[in-house]
Amino acid sequence: MIPVITIDGPSGTGKGTLTDLLAERLGWCSLDSGALYRVLGVAARRQGVALEDADALAGLADSLPVRFVSGRVLLGEDDVSAEIRTEEAGMAASKVAAHPEVRARLLDWQRRMAREPGLVADGRDMGTVVFPAAPLKIFLDASPEVRAERRYKQLKGKGLDANLPQLVRDIRERDARDRNRPVAPLCAADDAILVDSTAMSIAEVLDRVLEEVRRVF
Ligand code: C5P
Repeated sequence: MIPVITIDGPSGTGKGTLTDLLAERLGWCSLDSGALYRVLGVAARRQGVALEDADALAGLADSLPVRFVSGRVLLGEDDVSAEIRTEEAGMAASKVAAHPEVRARLLDWQRRMAREPGLVADGRDMGTVVFPAAPLKIFLDASPEVRAERRYKQLKGKGLDANLPQLVRDIRERDARDRNRPVAPLCAADDAILVDSTAMSIAEVLDRVLEEVRRVF
């Protein structure tokens, strides 16, 4: 069986960075499942599909021409890497991801990403639904305030406008939707290792997770 490490948790905890660093360190593939939902949100907007229309979204998900190529995210031939990273795209992703029909259609696509020599998979339900047999599951958390502050610095660093209290509100709203949805809600798998990154640097988080990698593999 192809080894899989799952990294789940709410947005802004550093899951994406941790996943990339870990995959690079191990020489494994990586899966950014959030990008998949983000691309679907963008595709829906472009095609005029309402984010509440579960059947139409499921149809879109079935034939979504998404590819991850050398760190870029392509929708058809269009590079949507920057477009999917906006707050608006994050909110849209969280809305399309709340439909069970949509999640079901994207399951196989995600499972096919498990390739030799191994996969590090980042998302909300990697350890609970997509790869329940993964031998190492991490649940990365941090306080909403710290996550909003990290996002604020990221946006300011890019010279973009940012409003800290608004970011805290957005993060709480997205968390609530992700945690309370009936299907694949954001929660730690029973056998996941909890890591709270509120007071940790990304290097410290990586070291902590590498300890577990050495223990398990
Ligand atoms: O991780 P990221 O912030 O890019 O994910 C965007 C949204 O996609 C999340 O807020 C969540 O609603 C949804 N998502 C999900 N399941 C995943 C990954 C992301 O529901 N495995």
